[in-house]
Amino acid sequence: MRTKEPFTPAEYVERYAPGSSFVDVGGMWGINGEYSFKAERAGATRVVLVDIDRTAEFDRKLDEAQSKIEFVKADATEATLLDEIGTFDVVWCAGLLYHVPDPLGLIENLRRICKQWLILESLVIPEMPGWPNMATFYPYQPPRYRRRWDTSTKGGASRQLGADNLQETGGAGHRGMGRADSTARASLLAAIAAGCLTESEAA
Ligand SMILES: C[S@@+](CC[C@H](N)C(=O)[O-])C[C@H]1O[C@@H](n2cnc3c(N)ncnc32)[C@H](O)[C@@H]1O
Repeated sequence: MRTKEPFTPAEYVERYAPGSSFVDVGGMWGINGEYSFKAERAGATRVVLVDIDRTAEFDRKLDEAQSKIEFVKADATEATLLDEIGTFDVVWCAGLLYHVPDPLGLIENLRRICKQWLILESLVIPEMPGWPNMATFYPYQPPRYRRRWDTSTKGGASRQLGADNLQETGGAGHRGMGRADSTARASLLAAIAAGCLTESEAA
């Protein structure tokens, strides 16, 4: 697992998508499938976007580009995902891990649909010194505590973890948990222990 990335997200797509099948898991909100379109333009052989939501802007872009991207409406944490979409050379999953209450279940599912490369991106919360593997459940936090996680006023990822996510108290996209980097690493190790990933795959 690498935490200091040498590439931008777009560079990752350009590097891994050409000649490969590519699935973009959770690629809709705020970005309208942009990484799927990048993968298609970069020469991916098949591109699927899996999300619980579909936007009009995504459909507009689909028409405009005369794109062959397949949209599959599905919950990426459901065990049926593999049967629904099959396997892919490249699994791209950005900004989703902190949305789901069961991160390990999501990682296990991503592993099942992944033939070669899993590119997993997530915001993390700060480490608490002396308390590794911390996590916080966002829904129903009192407003003054919820605001701590809103990075939009600090030049942070307002698009991904903005006020909407923090003000909602439930719903499919809003049952998320913030995790420290050590917690995300521990989730990958737990996936290894469960036999879903090998150590070299998580390296
Ligand atoms: C913060 S956005 C990330 C968008 C994009 N990947 C990016 O990097 O900007 C999270 C996306 O995950 C989707 N999502 C949330 N829960 C999901 C789930 N259980 N299964 C599939 N998609 C989900 C949301 O609808 C939304 O499109």
